Amino acid sequence: MARVFSGIQPSGDLHLGNFLGAVRNWVRVQDEHDAVYCIVDLHALTLRPDASELRAATLRLAQTLIAIGIDPEHSILFVQGHVPEHAELSWLMECTASFGELNRMTQFKDKSGRTDFISAGLFSYPALQAADILLYDTDLVPVGDDQRQHIELTRDIAERFNNRYGDTFVVPEHVIPPAGARVMDLQDPTAKMSKSEGEAPGTVWMLDDVGKIEKKFRRAITDSDGEVRYDPEAKPGVSNLLSILGAATDREPAAVAADYEQYGPLKSDAADAVISALEPIQKRFADLVADPAETERVLARGAERAREIASATNDRARAAVGLLPRSSSPRS
Ligand code: TRP
Repeated sequence: MARVFSGIQPSGDLHLGNFLGAVRNWVRVQDEHDAVYCIVDLHALTLRPDASELRAATLRLAQTLIAIGIDPEHSILFVQGHVPEHAELSWLMECTASFGELNRMTQFKDKSGRTDFISAGLFSYPALQAADILLYDTDLVPVGDDQRQHIELTRDIAERFNNRYGDTFVVPEHVIPPAGARVMDLQDPTAKMSKSEGEAPGTVWMLDDVGKIEKKFRRAITDSDGEVRYDPEAKPGVSNLLSILGAATDREPAAVAADYEQYGPLKSDAADAVISALEPIQKRFADLVADPAETERVLARGAERAREIASATNDRARAAVGLLPRSSSPRS
């Protein structure tokens, strides 16, 4: 079975866009692949989160992922900072990537423009991401198009390392997950639904209660021509509702459009579909929150399983570049 690796930052609760666009696919992927899912807390440090918020967000994200159906018995679910090989291999990756390559990353340019303290970690972020992926002999990385440049860099680093030091890493492929719906802000349907806006009325959080979800959909921006048609350019608000309803019910947005003549029923059906997808998840989440020690055990076990794979790859890479074997290392 092909090995799949994906990572997600613990940077706050997930919204409907994260769910329908990304993490829901993780659940589907795990049945047909050997899946490794990582909560990348070290990456989150690049933007200097508050320590207690980071701790809470990491645990809540683990609980959310388990609640949506990531099966920690079957897949490997772990926290990056629990597996020290990530930070260690990252250094070898930094010494394999060039300054110029890292300097061309558009995500660095974006993020560094939005923070007044630009950490060196923000710059070398993609080297850590390459370490994440390469440690697990990953075949496939299912991440959105925004990660294309990072995955290409990972491939370049892996190939360069293999050329310099001999075959060490599997060169992974980027797979764009099946169009998991690009969910837009309900109040500004020309912008992606985003985390950064706090309590914004255009963002539906996975943990929003029924009343809130209904209200946010009821108030969603549409347009004034009154025609239900899937046309993201001309009708971004209506099209967004159609793609949300489509994604939540596994149908094409254009096909969904044929069932509606008015915006009101479209909004309330979209809200209902989202609520029925989220309610069981919220219930499982509440059970997990009631017993945090259980999630901690699950994560400890995940880290142990991850480390078995990661330490073998890391030892291979250490030996390839000429680091002396550690006497404590089981493979030295
Ligand atoms: N950079 C990714 C993001 O912002 C998160 C990430 C870190 C990741 N390491 C990864 C994704 C490894 C895939 C594989 O979404």
